[in-house]
Amino acid sequence: MDILRITGGSRLHGEISISGAKNAALPILCAGLLTADTVTLTNVPELNDIATTLKLLGQMGVRCTRETDGTVHITANDVSTLEAPYELVKTMRASILVLGPLLARFGQARVSLPGGCAIGQRPVDQHIHGLAALGADISIEHGFVVARAQRLKGAVIRTDMVTVTGTENLLMAAVLAEGQTILENAAREPEVVDLAELLIKMGAQIQGHGTDRIVIEGVKSLHGATHRVIPDRIEAGSFLCAVGAAGGDITLRKVAPDTMGATLSKLQEAGLTLTCGPDWIRASMTQRPKPVDFRTHEYPGFATDMQAQLMALNALADGTSVIAETIFENRYMHVQELLRLGARIDIDGHTAVVRGVTKLSGATVMATDLRASASLVIAGLAAEGQTIVERIYHLDRGYERMEHKLRQLGANIERISSKDLS
Ligand code: EPZ
Repeated sequence: MDILRITGGSRLHGEISISGAKNAALPILCAGLLTADTVTLTNVPELNDIATTLKLLGQMGVRCTRETDGTVHITANDVSTLEAPYELVKTMRASILVLGPLLARFGQARVSLPGGCAIGQRPVDQHIHGLAALGADISIEHGFVVARAQRLKGAVIRTDMVTVTGTENLLMAAVLAEGQTILENAAREPEVVDLAELLIKMGAQIQGHGTDRIVIEGVKSLHGATHRVIPDRIEAGSFLCAVGAAGGDITLRKVAPDTMGATLSKLQEAGLTLTCGPDWIRASMTQRPKPVDFRTHEYPGFATDMQAQLMALNALADGTSVIAETIFENRYMHVQELLRLGARIDIDGHTAVVRGVTKLSGATVMATDLRASASLVIAGLAAEGQTIVERIYHLDRGYERMEHKLRQLGANIERISSKDLS
């Protein structure tokens, strides 16, 4: 397993381009199952989770081709298998996103239950209840969700809580259902909006995406389309936290500042100077971070996917901050590792109290999940001495060549493959 070796202390300068959004690309790739025509997607990030999704679709008989510039073509005109196997689903729970499209187009699906993950139990009961409301006959058999439906019928569906992939699955099921579907308590994330925009280009009739009430008029079939995936607001936010921790002056290109409101206001509160254009953000940090209290919340609130990264910044702040993680029950796995770097953090249930320290000291730490990995890299950039981050396969799931982009900004960071370590 590869590791990252970071020598802290370098301020960051220069500019980098932000990649396409992982959490938009994943449902959008699955939407290719909804038509026999080719769906062409640009700005698709090169990530392990994307590769896993393309492998899953390929195993179903979907033709997936990827060009060097990040363009991906999906053609589902010869789907042979309507199943998502445990071997793939256990590595990426977002595989559940094939369930809605398979049911909508083919009337049946057999998708392995994802199982838990590091940050929480993460059930899919809302996906199942919603599809049943659309008329699907669903059962859980030997660890699989087995679903059948002649033709889905529109319904009013209110999920018990806001669920991003739940909204996306139900949206993809409803676009081919008979009649009208209303999704109440829908997720408002930009990635949900991006999926809806693609579906509309494919001929779907959708209104209200981006609000908590989405209205879909089912159509008989969808056709191909071309779509550019939106920029990754979490990758962008992670780099802003990096310059907040290490200091310096950087510019992020190919971003969408209008999808980052909550993150930008919290980083300004932490002391960053931010200037934004339509597709760029300039961020400078010339002082020790100020402590920032925050609670994670569904969009447009502060993203749970940014919690670990802002905590790393708070660890260096000149004061105490209080963090509440309200979305997942176990999303503090990075805390134990940050403590190894000298942070002072106490956890009490969903609340973390961070007492900022003037200096972190480099150490060997272990990544436990995707955003925890980013948090440890951010802390390592500011820590005195050398930090080794192990198990960075977690990082590779959601960040495209992070060490290259950080080196472009002047960070002292390198990837060492496990074979060179032995
Ligand atoms: C999506 O996960 C993202 N993944 C996550 O990003 C993100 O953290 C999360 O939304 C919240 O924003 C993708 O989009 C691929 P949820 P998802 O369903 O859809 C509970 C990353 O770092 N729930 O919105 O799985 C659930 O347990 C990843 O890129 C149910 O109880 O999250 C959680 O407490 C990590 N039953 C809450 O709802 C359900 O059927 C929100 O989960 C569904 C969800």
